[in-house]
Amino acid sequence: MAITYFITGANRGIGFEFAKQVSADSNNIVFATTRSLANATALQDLHRSNLHIIELDIGSSLEVFKESLAEPLAKFAPNGVDIIIQNAGIAKNSAKRVIDSSPEEYEEHYRVNVVGPLKVYQSLLPYWSKQANPETPKKFIFINSVVGWVNNFYPFRSSHYGASKAALNHLTRHICFDNKSSDSDCIKNSIVIAVHPGLVLTDLAKKVFEDSGIDPDSSGLPSIYPDESVRNLLEIIDNLTHEDNNTFISNDGTRTSW
Ligand SMILES: NC(=O)c1ccc[n+]([C@@H]2O[C@H](COP(=O)([O-])OP(=O)(O)OC[C@H]3O[C@@H](n4cnc5c(N)ncnc54)[C@H](OP(=O)(O)O)[C@@H]3O)[C@@H](O)[C@H]2O)c1
Repeated sequence: MAITYFITGANRGIGFEFAKQVSADSNNIVFATTRSLANATALQDLHRSNLHIIELDIGSSLEVFKESLAEPLAKFAPNGVDIIIQNAGIAKNSAKRVIDSSPEEYEEHYRVNVVGPLKVYQSLLPYWSKQANPETPKKFIFINSVVGWVNNFYPFRSSHYGASKAALNHLTRHICFDNKSSDSDCIKNSIVIAVHPGLVLTDLAKKVFEDSGIDPDSSGLPSIYPDESVRNLLEIIDNLTHEDNNTFISNDGTRTSW
């Protein structure tokens, strides 16, 4: 039986690398979302018949989410979805103290980084819980960041981004809590985790460096490229067991406090 993946924010950066690496196995069925098909040339250029591109803006209403998913999922994933990688996210206007961060910046980061993933979860749950797959437990992977830790506070000036990722961690843990009492055995046995992808040289990270006045080449910070980050993350994801449910895992495999 094929493994069906659903990846958000897959037209560039880490999300694109996920779509590229998992669709390289032609047995997998892969859904990759993009805000705009016009910006999805890298995905289209892969020319893979098992890769289905869906136009979806994380800011759209839940009704639009459900409508956008209905047709492609009914057509290409009759057995539902197995592994969801909630990756789409923003980190704008870094290097600011709390006093200098605007309410609008907070609202935008919450809208994209928290309410967006909530809608991904709510619209996909019927497909995720549809049918057990003997090839894999059901998995829901939230791409988070060390800046979302509360207990292990990470000293980086971006409170609007950090607060939104901390809220996303809370959402992740609530989903784990709800899953324990699910009517569906495959959801009761599912694995829901948050991961930190590392400091990955994408457009997002380059802009954070720029905002912070840091030169990535001379900073001494351990940055990696998206292909390496995703290779590491896929190894972690492939080897997850139910013991890993409700944990935060870093790119090097370390389980840390949230
Ligand atoms: N790079 C890092 O070092 C790092 C570290 C920790 C965590 N992360 C997390 O990793 C994830 C991916 O980041 P990245 O570095 O790959 O960033 P990226 O290169 O900027 O890519 C972000 C992706 O999210 C999509 N996106 C943004 N806003 C969206 C919206 N409103 N609706 C739908 N899609 C939207 C983008 O689509 P468009 O092309 O249409 O904008 C793009 O596909 C994020 O959740 C980020 O917080 C990254």
